[in-house]
Amino acid sequence: MIVTPLTKLLGIRIPVVQGGMQWVGLPKLVAAVSEAGGLGVLTALTQPSPDALRIAIRDTRKLTTKPFGVNITLLPTINPPDYEGYARAAVEEGIKIFETAGNNPGPLIKFFKSQGCIVVHKCTTIRHAKSAERLGVDVLSIDGFECAGHPGEEDIGGLVLLARAAKELKVPYIASGGIADARGLAGALALGAAGVNMGTRFMCTVESPIHHNIKEKIVASTEQDTVHIFRTLHNTARVFKNKVALEVVAIERKPAGAKFEDVRDLVSGNRGRMVYENGDPDYGIWSAGITIGLIHDIPTCAELLKRLESETEEIINGLHTTVLKSHL
Ligand SMILES: Cc1cc2nc3c(=O)[nH]c(=O)nc-3n(C[C@H](O)[C@H](O)[C@H](O)COP(=O)(O)O)c2cc1C
Repeated sequence: MIVTPLTKLLGIRIPVVQGGMQWVGLPKLVAAVSEAGGLGVLTALTQPSPDALRIAIRDTRKLTTKPFGVNITLLPTINPPDYEGYARAAVEEGIKIFETAGNNPGPLIKFFKSQGCIVVHKCTTIRHAKSAERLGVDVLSIDGFECAGHPGEEDIGGLVLLARAAKELKVPYIASGGIADARGLAGALALGAAGVNMGTRFMCTVESPIHHNIKEKIVASTEQDTVHIFRTLHNTARVFKNKVALEVVAIERKPAGAKFEDVRDLVSGNRGRMVYENGDPDYGIWSAGITIGLIHDIPTCAELLKRLESETEEIINGLHTTVLKSHL
């Protein structure tokens, strides 16, 4: 048993959170992670409306009695989705755990705390972590440069962020980005984290709702197979390095630079979504982290978390022996 402030706070067996994933964080995966002892998280904005989120929450409850959460991602967009509507719907459906991510989370955090909920806020700098701490979040999810999706613009890897978190944060924090196996979990615990958040690893499980071809593609890929898009637009995203992503990067690198309109069609959310449905890895943009270099199989969530738990314990015990031996 790995008991940490995270397992105690959330009432889970193993300190592993499945981070929000657009088009992927659907009831079947979320319930499988929670049933396996971690925390599954539904992605609110994958649902077309707050009412659809209510249905997804009810569908998840049919599959598990264990705790699960809802992610709300605040996007840098001119026409924002109805965040408040999603938040209210989830609270009314009895959700007690929220993962927030993105800019200006203050009003959402305030609302969730006023409703007695637990908030895990994901951020990519210690500066933002401290300001979320002041807003009253319960747990920080410290997302290093290795992560899938948005790593921020400061390019600091998890090792340094977590070592700073250990010294400077007062609330528990979990390590996010670049973790897919027991070495990652054991390392995170050594860095003072109360657990880990994983995205890409959970994409490549039996219960993940994406097309099997994409799971096979992840297994066949290495850590060289991701790329950053939107760097020049200051909204960097780490995605799978396919034809479309390279085209976006090429447009961004033109001497005149690029505006969002120049790449809008290439990066459309619908094309990205279709990748998961039609199984063509070159059809659109899809998020993936460099952990694809560590992913070699497609286990069930139960197999994955059982393996993580036992191997992490082995590693920690092994370290203990190594340290003792070196003292002799
Ligand atoms: C396919 C995919 C979609 C994602 N979508 C979101 C999202 O909508 N909101 C969010 O906060 N994070 C999103 N993420 C980031 C994950 O929640 C998590 O922070 C990240 O994957 C951690 O890095 P890792 O992939 O190295 O484990 C996504 C990740 C992936 C792989």
